[in-house]
Amino acid sequence: MILQTPEQKMTDPTLVRVSHDGPVATVTIDRQKKLNALNPDVIRELGHAFEGLRSDDEIRGVILTGAGDKAFVAGADIGVLARMEPIEGVEVSRQGQSVLRAIETFPKPVLAAVGGYALGGGCELAIACHLRIASENARFGLPEVGLGIIPGYGGTVRMARLVGLGRALELTLTGEMIDAQRAEALGLVNGVVPRDELMERARELMDKIVKNGPVAINKALESVYHALDAGTEDALRHESSLFGLLAATDDMKEGMTAFMDKRKPEFKGK
Ligand code: COA
Repeated sequence: MILQTPEQKMTDPTLVRVSHDGPVATVTIDRQKKLNALNPDVIRELGHAFEGLRSDDEIRGVILTGAGDKAFVAGADIGVLARMEPIEGVEVSRQGQSVLRAIETFPKPVLAAVGGYALGGGCELAIACHLRIASENARFGLPEVGLGIIPGYGGTVRMARLVGLGRALELTLTGEMIDAQRAEALGLVNGVVPRDELMERARELMDKIVKNGPVAINKALESVYHALDAGTEDALRHESSLFGLLAATDDMKEGMTAFMDKRKPEFKGK
């Protein structure tokens, strides 16, 4: 029997929808009347959605997006933040961090399709994903300092890694929004596309990834992220171990045999 707290019972699973299309799942945050702002229910449902997809062997990649044309996610819910006490504030931050960390360490590639505002927690959510595609109307920013707080979902940690210290500090300290073109110039997004092509182009990019060996994709993610936290020698040894490990997979045999046979590989993810 699964025990639920009263708070969990009140959770609305329609806030985060999951759909499947072949090997790719799409997770859609749908709280449009508040521009998909992240309240505790959305955070919890987002965590559940990724938990479910983690063990789903059919799924090889995930696209994360926000419902409606206006926003990916316009931030953590300011109504909730405005009422928080210090200890609660730490909890709010830790809960959000833990779900975003689960996305960052997700064993399959996660691509954010950003079709509008990605501000505060929304920007932090986008940069916790492995890749980002933005629509031309997308806007990014870390406006927290204007509210008297700082980014609390990993923004002060991940932004500098992604765009470099000086640019991250400019975004964090000014709190100003940047448009999609500027975000692309900074390396904050991998591409900018017209709004009505966003999901199609996100899928095209994901298809280029999921056609490759799933175990190799998983180990590539592991190696790159391990290197971010490790010294060079440790990171190189870790890479070698993973490289060697892949020789034990059917996927490696299939990939190399298919190359020799001049045909497309059919990977099984084993
Ligand atoms: N938290 C809670 N509610 C939010 C929100 C957030 N982060 N972002 C938007 N909303 C709500 C608005 O309060 C409004 O609700 P209402 O209709 O009940 O008044 C609704 O979403 C629509 O937003 P609105 O401000 O009317 O849209 P807009 O087009 O005029 O402006 C933004 C869009 C994104 C520029 C503006 O909503 C904004 O600045 N949001 C906050 C962004 C932010 O600071 N995020 C970081 C939080 S830490």
